[in-house]
Amino acid sequence: MQNRIVIITGAKSGIGKAAALKFATEGYTVVMACRNMEVSKKVQEEIIASSKNKNVDLMELDVSSFKSIRHFCEQYKKRYEKLDILIHNAAYVEHGAKHRLSVDGIELTFATNVVGPYLMTQLLLDHLKKSDEARILNSGSNIIKHYFDPKKKIDFKTLQGENNDPKFSVYNMYRQSKIAFMMLTFKMADEFKNDGIKVNALQVNGAKLSKETLNKFTLRWRIIGRIQSAFLRPTEYMANNYYEICTSEKFKETTGKLLNDKLEIMESATGEDLGFIEEVKQAVGSSVYPAYTDDKVTTEKVWGFCKNWTEKYTTDQKMESIKV
Ligand SMILES: NC(=O)c1ccc[n+]([C@@H]2O[C@H](COP(=O)([O-])OP(=O)(O)OC[C@H]3O[C@@H](n4cnc5c(N)ncnc54)[C@H](OP(=O)(O)O)[C@@H]3O)[C@@H](O)[C@H]2O)c1
Repeated sequence: MQNRIVIITGAKSGIGKAAALKFATEGYTVVMACRNMEVSKKVQEEIIASSKNKNVDLMELDVSSFKSIRHFCEQYKKRYEKLDILIHNAAYVEHGAKHRLSVDGIELTFATNVVGPYLMTQLLLDHLKKSDEARILNSGSNIIKHYFDPKKKIDFKTLQGENNDPKFSVYNMYRQSKIAFMMLTFKMADEFKNDGIKVNALQVNGAKLSKETLNKFTLRWRIIGRIQSAFLRPTEYMANNYYEICTSEKFKETTGKLLNDKLEIMESATGEDLGFIEEVKQAVGSSVYPAYTDDKVTTEKVWGFCKNWTEKYTTDQKMESIKV
């Protein structure tokens, strides 16, 4: 597997770290795409030692910054001739934090969890096309269940610019970002179908949160997170799911799907008013996702938002160096 290359964003902790170890142990060439280089370097060494696989690379990436993404992709293309697997695992989840804009002026949750992965995928597309079996995996969340409530929609006004709304919450932005990311998954699968690139998402329904991640939350959210985390599965469970979706024969032809933690393909809910009991059953189970995820108009708006913001980074074919 040494000649098969996987990029995992946010591979220095949590599920991403467990996935990097899994792929490395199975003999893949792993590129950890991380932003905190000091900590990530230690994790890289740990993974090399545990997996006995020297082909674990570490490259700097801040997925919330267009320049950093472009720099990463440029360096990646200099080092590697193709890309087989791209896992968009990194996410901004600093619950309780105040409103923040990315360096490019997009609300930070949306910039990190949606627009960044869009740009990165576009810039790596030609390398993915060089693989004989390219697969992209987007890390989703069961938080999209909120959209079983038909009144809930993405509020495009909140995705950019300053926001003085006292009710602003990263949790709400995270929810918006994850449903938008699922829309992007389906749209990407469609867009890249003729290139043979398979694009799917996994609905992560919980995995133990690292101390580091919990420490980023405000006190109230940290307490909730700690209690929740005690009941969650180890990160290795979801990491194994990443591995299965990206490598197994079973999912070789699967594209444009959202899979649950049992690796079953989820279906779109009907969107009809089912009544309270049935709606609760839907929300508790994991066989269907909200019909809103398939909303074509909103999907085009999300795609358009990403395309417009990143246009000047994708149209320049030369990819000349930009200082980061
Ligand atoms: N754990 C769960 O219960 C759960 C539930 C639902 C969904 N998920 C999803 O599963 C995925 C992994 O989550 P996790 O629980 O493993 O979280 P985690 O331990 O916090 O890992 C997230 C990683 O993303 C990195 N990251 C954040 N912003 C970044 C940026 N701008 N550039 C580069 N890297 C960045 C973080 O690095 P820094 O420390 O440098 O920020 C961290 O290494 C996420 O997509 C998350 O939304 C997890």
